[in-house]
Amino acid sequence: MNEQFSIKGKVAVITGAGGVLGGSIAKSFVDAGAKIVALDIRQEQLDVRIAELTANGGEAIGIIGNVLDIENLEKVAKEIISKWGQIDILLNIAGGNMPGATLNPDQDFYNMKISDWEKVTSLNMNGTVYPSMVFGKIMAQQKSGCIINVSSMAAYSAITRVPGYSAAKTAVSNFTQWLATEMALKYGDGIRVNAIAPGFFIGDQNRAVLINPDGSLTDRSKKVLDKTPMGRFGDITELNGAVQFLCSPAASFITGVVLPIDGGFSAFSGV
Ligand SMILES: NC(=O)c1ccc[n+]([C@@H]2O[C@H](COP(=O)([O-])OP(=O)(O)OC[C@H]3O[C@@H](n4cnc5c(N)ncnc54)[C@H](O)[C@@H]3O)[C@@H](O)[C@H]2O)c1
Repeated sequence: MNEQFSIKGKVAVITGAGGVLGGSIAKSFVDAGAKIVALDIRQEQLDVRIAELTANGGEAIGIIGNVLDIENLEKVAKEIISKWGQIDILLNIAGGNMPGATLNPDQDFYNMKISDWEKVTSLNMNGTVYPSMVFGKIMAQQKSGCIINVSSMAAYSAITRVPGYSAAKTAVSNFTQWLATEMALKYGDGIRVNAIAPGFFIGDQNRAVLINPDGSLTDRSKKVLDKTPMGRFGDITELNGAVQFLCSPAASFITGVVLPIDGGFSAFSGV
């Protein structure tokens, strides 16, 4: 591959690496020669992931960690520095919607459970901010690094039934711009902060609302596809190249952007 797009030898911390998106991106990063720190709160998922990542000689370690626990993240950061001496890339992928935070079609907003609102906003917003604080501090000392956050189509215009998830992902987009600005003003051009905004990919969190038990598309799915000019869901692997590009020297003057990877969903008014 052209050196411009290389991430070979870079130390990349991937939160939520046990999950669908994190797993796919971690695999593509290890294949590109990066050293992976897979961080997740679920031990079993992490074990599966590390077995996959190291199967062909890839360099990867798994660390149980909680993106909502700063003290825990600081311990993780120390462990990584003592093993590999640096942290080049942080992919803030842990996050997602939660069943309790999705309003039922017949449920009124004012009956939403506050505890579910707090859980979903905290995981998606604080779960991006806290690791950025802990690992970003190391990048500031190094005067180099790259952070990628995960926003959503819900940050562009309203998606029904998911108020907490939408509010938190909008915060992630704004935080991406804020932190990009802060890092460049204080530490120069070596630290970049960007985000991706995936369109619709079938994952564990949304399978039930997009696919009926008999495998047919739900009404919600049909609405999504009608507003996606490419007329299909994304394949999870279609995120990998964009994330690698944003972390590579080819993107050296790109900071503060939120890149939609959505088959045109965010570009199309629907008319
Ligand atoms: N799947 C999609 O279509 C889609 C679309 C847009 C955005 N996203 C976003 O992409 C990201 C990943 O989504 P996914 O579909 O891979 O979800 P997933 O549920 O498969 O993976 C999320 C991972 O995060 C881990 N996690 C949860 N809480 C954690 C915590 N406190 N600390 C550390 N790890 C924790 C989970 O154990 C899980 O392995 C999320 O931010 C999600 O909002 C997904």
